[in-house]
Amino acid sequence: MLTTDAERLWNSLMELARIGATPKGGVRRLALSDEDRRGRDCFRDWCRAAVMQVEIDAIGNIFARRAGTDRDLAPVAIGSHLDSQPSGGKFDGAYGVMAGLELVRTLDDAGVRTRAPLEVVAWTNEEGSRFVPTCMGSGVFAGVHSLEHVLQQRDVDGVTVRDALGRIGYDGTASPHRLGAYFEAHIEQGPILEREARAVGLVTGVLGLRWYDCAWTGQDAHAGPTPMPARRDALRGAARLVEAVHALALRSAPDGRGTVGFVQVAPNSRNVVPGHVRMSVDLRHPDDAALAAMDAELRSAAAAIASELGLECEVREVASFASCRFDAGCVEQVRAAAKAFGYSHLEIVSGAGHDAVYVARVAPTAMVFIPCKDGISHNELESARPEHVEAGANVLLHAVLARAGVSADRR
Ligand code: GLV
Ligand code: MN
Ligand code: MN
Repeated sequence: MLTTDAERLWNSLMELARIGATPKGGVRRLALSDEDRRGRDCFRDWCRAAVMQVEIDAIGNIFARRAGTDRDLAPVAIGSHLDSQPSGGKFDGAYGVMAGLELVRTLDDAGVRTRAPLEVVAWTNEEGSRFVPTCMGSGVFAGVHSLEHVLQQRDVDGVTVRDALGRIGYDGTASPHRLGAYFEAHIEQGPILEREARAVGLVTGVLGLRWYDCAWTGQDAHAGPTPMPARRDALRGAARLVEAVHALALRSAPDGRGTVGFVQVAPNSRNVVPGHVRMSVDLRHPDDAALAAMDAELRSAAAAIASELGLECEVREVASFASCRFDAGCVEQVRAAAKAFGYSHLEIVSGAGHDAVYVARVAPTAMVFIPCKDGISHNELESARPEHVEAGANVLLHAVLARAGVSADRR
């Protein structure tokens, strides 16, 4: 059975991880930054070296195409993202893109042609860390986000997506196109596969997600003379909401998740009672009704805290997707590939969001997970074992071949 070149894939991942490398062994390649550009350039050059045709669309998604033998078939796409969290790991996103490239290199070496074309895709700004929303590129591709709207989004310094894309030279012109299917390989980013000692996860779906920006307004005041009862301290409101988010997620145990990961305090001065705070809230649940209930709890907690502390709080939803189930046929192709190799596997629902969530709206889609060490991700220490990296790529290869069809023509 055809297998990917595990060493070449590992080496490509490690070489890519040198771009934006951080002291503790992770990467920092914020979306549309110089490091992201260098990561993209590296991927584009490797794709061109593999004689793929590279196109960029208006939101900066990179599509590298390997021709098929049947011109009438829509491409089978494989991909993920190259951007990272501020202190991210080497594998989140990069694994799916590099596994896609390795798959093409493997087919080239073996002289295998597929009937459907193949397309290796690097989607723009999956992380949603520098620019909201998450899964920006795949969301635009799938028609979920309007291009004009996302181009106007700003980072904390006020730089727009439009300007950042133009600056790194990835504001392309490729037009939207149909995909025959989409497969994404990714590290699990959680503890289940490792705990269950399985090499591969057959991802059947993804938790629903809602992101919010909460803006607290009180009044700036002097830290000394202002009596405690007279204060309208926006940071107290935010602190109370951090606890409320944690508590409401616990009330939705075991599946509910609630996180505050971003806080901006103004004027952020030691001796000023803060009058303004901006904070994020991230809520997730596999059940859409439960997620809607968490949304209602968040809003009522914010309103109650604001009224008690004499503050204003605006809660604005800035991104969301419903829980998703992947295509049964694609999941079966992943399962068949895992079985053919004799890899231990189990079905799993992803706790993390992925580009596959949006692509699933326009093409039959599935994902392949591999374990990561201690379930740790969005962390410089994120790590995966070479044998799992190899297993996931082999499963991806054979799921894709089953979908794209192997042509009798060789070259
Ligand atoms: C993507 O990294 C997410 O937030 O799930
Ligand atoms: Mn990811
Ligand atoms: Mn991530």
